Parts: sequence; C-alpha cells; structure tokens
Amino acid sequence: MRTVTVALGERSYDVLIGSGLLAAVGERTRDAAGGRSAVVITDSNVAPLYAPAVAASLAGAGYVAHVATFPAGEPHKTLATVADLFDQVFALPTPPERTTVVVALGGGVAGDIAGFLAATLLRGVPFVQVPTSLLAMVDSSVGGKTGVDHAAGKNLIGAFHQPRGVFIDTDTLATLPPVEMASGLAECIKHGIIRDASLLAWIEQHAPALAAGDRDALGELIARNVAIKAAVVAADEREGGVRAHLNYGHTIGHAIEAVAGLRGGADTGDYLRHGHCVALGMVAAGRIAVARGLLGESDARRVESILAAVNLPVRLAGLNGAELLGIMRRDKKVLAGAIRFVLPDRALGRAAVFADVSDAEILDAIACLS
Ligand SMILES: NC(=O)c1ccc[n+]([C@@H]2O[C@H](COP(=O)([O-])OP(=O)(O)OC[C@H]3O[C@@H](n4cnc5c(N)ncnc54)[C@H](O)[C@@H]3O)[C@@H](O)[C@H]2O)c1
Repeated sequence: MRTVTVALGERSYDVLIGSGLLAAVGERTRDAAGGRSAVVITDSNVAPLYAPAVAASLAGAGYVAHVATFPAGEPHKTLATVADLFDQVFALPTPPERTTVVVALGGGVAGDIAGFLAATLLRGVPFVQVPTSLLAMVDSSVGGKTGVDHAAGKNLIGAFHQPRGVFIDTDTLATLPPVEMASGLAECIKHGIIRDASLLAWIEQHAPALAAGDRDALGELIARNVAIKAAVVAADEREGGVRAHLNYGHTIGHAIEAVAGLRGGADTGDYLRHGHCVALGMVAAGRIAVARGLLGESDARRVESILAAVNLPVRLAGLNGAELLGIMRRDKKVLAGAIRFVLPDRALGRAAVFADVSDAEILDAIACLS
C-alpha cells in the first residue's frame, strides 16, 4: 500500500492507495475520524457494486452504518439532490450527531455532493473519501473542494471542507467503464503539463498499458498524481495562488461542458465527460500558448497525441466561440472582468496564470478545435 500525506497542519490527512482497501474502510475511518455512526453517500451505479462491502466494513469496526443514494451523473449534482439526501439522513433510525462520519463513495460527483453535505450537516461533520473513479482518485477526492452545480454554471455553490482521510481501493477500477477511465486520464495529463514533464513522458510511454487497465501502471499513476495534487493543495489550500494552476484546460473546458456536454444524449451514455471537455480545453489553451510563444508547436502537438493515445477527444466540430466566451465570463475564475487563463510557462511541466488573454486569442483557439 502507498501513502501520500496532505500536509495542512492540524487538518492534515493521509491518502491510502492499494488493492483490497474497501474491506478496511471501517477500521481506517475509525482511526481517522472516530465517531459512532456513519452514513455512506453514493450514487445509483456504485451503490450495488460497493456500498454493501463498505457498510459491512463500517459495521465491523463498530459503526452504526447507513447508506443514502442519489441518481448517478453530473445532471444530479444539484442542491435538489443534496436536499433529498438531507431528507434521507434525517429520516434514518439513528439521527445524525456532530460526530457522525459521512463516507463519500463513488466518483467525483458523489465526492463533491457528500463533501458538501458533510460541510453543512449540523454545521459540519467529519467525512472521508472512498473514490471509485480514476478522476476522483487522482483529483477530486483530495483537496477539500466540495459543492454542486447551478443552472448558472458548474460548481457555483460549495464549501472548502477537508476529508479526514482518503481510501483508494484500486480494485474498484475493474468495473469503471473505459470512457470514464479516459476522463480521469485527462486530469493526469493536466498534472504533467502544469507540474511534471516526466509524468507526461511516463504517461506517453505507458498509454497502451493504462488504456488496457494494467493494475501496476494504474497504481503508480494514481500515487504520482495524488502526490502532485497533495503538494499543490498543501502550498495553497484556498486557491490564492498556485492551486489555480489545477484549472489548466478548465476555463474553456467548463464552457464546452456547459454547451456540448450532453450533446449525444445522456440516455445513450454517448456524451462528453468532464475529462473529455478538459482535454479539449487543454488543446485550446495549448493553442493560445503557442500563439503567445509560450509553448513550441511540437510540444502542443505532442500533448494532443498523448490525449488521443488514451482515447480523449482533441477536436469537436460545431462549437460556437461567442457562446463559449459568454459562459466563460460567468466562471468563478473571472476576476474584475478578466478571464484568468492558466497556460504552460515556456515549457511543459510548468504553468502560470495570465489575466490578459484577449477575446480574439480565445476565439482563435476555439476555432482550432474544429
Ligand atoms: N472537488 C474537486 O476538487 C474536483 C476536481 C475535479 C473534478 N471534480 C468534479 O468531479 C466530477 C467528475 O467526476 P467523475 O468523472 O468521477 O464523475 P462521476 O462521479 O459521475 O462518475 C462517473 C461515472 O462512473 C460511475 N462510477 C464511478 N466509479 C465506478 C466504478 N468503480 N465502477 C463503475 N462505475 C463507476 C459513476 O456512477 C458515474 O456514472 C465533476 O462534477 C467535477 O466537477 C471535482
């Protein structure tokens, strides 16, 4: 088992990564968070797969454990879902108390919703993360950002609330659909671009193994990415500085997610995931960087081929630049009217924030996606 510590003074916590960890969630939760009762919050896909094992592990460690579920998928990451979960929690035979531990089981949506519920239930109760999607393992479960979407935009309602521990059972990836695996790989490639060129080279080399779900390769990938995320969060918990670099690809990516995310249809499952939109956002941001002389053309092309090698989109027809710009202006990352862009800073592996990117540069970059 590998351990990465998120160093945040008295709110520090460990991220445990290994095979078979689900069976130890109860014991680990007791060590990290204490308490007598626990509520597992999970979605409708993950519940039948893993909630029984987690609830049994919690009961085995002495918790009175219950499970509350919500319908899977980003469209359900809303205040209405949180309200419904509160109804479920207050109707439990064991009423919640200040020491009740919330256990977030699932992908990033479950983690964001359960973390927000934990931040606000009785003005804040402890919670632990048990991420089961690659994206949640390498990114969203670490760092304490919790919240839900609003019709006006993604993640506009939320709170910082750090978990007491993050328990990553790599075995759960066996059931993750390939399209979700690719989505998580986008955030790993992002970490390489902003912080670690050697990680990017490693992903490039191991793309076939990663796409095939190779267990060893995935274990190393997760540990390397958690270490990067943990270091960034420890340096800047509230996003006053370097944590903003994690938004690389997200400014245009979130706008694409808002307009085109569900193109193809949620019913068929053939829609763009968060990571797919981030991949397109990174391609566009790379184009802005090339136009500014911050990145070589060959580096931009290399990133595109790494994205394509792990089955992420690098082009999307039919995007309306003006529409995307309008959405970007409503993004949280806008400061005093200026859209703040994270761009590679003269090389892959390092990044900086730029507040002077013009609308024309953004529109040119979006046009490159067609
Ligand atoms: N809080 C943060 O810092 C942060 C960072 C990045 C992303 N996010 C958020 O994370 C969300 C995306 O996360 P996601 O990609 O995990 O989405 P998700 O939670 O919707 O999970 C993707 C799909 O995979 C299913 N799933 C999860 N684990 C599974 C498993 N082991 N086996 C089978 N199916 C499984 C889910 O039910 C869902 O259908 C977005 O809402 C994004 O805003 C948050």
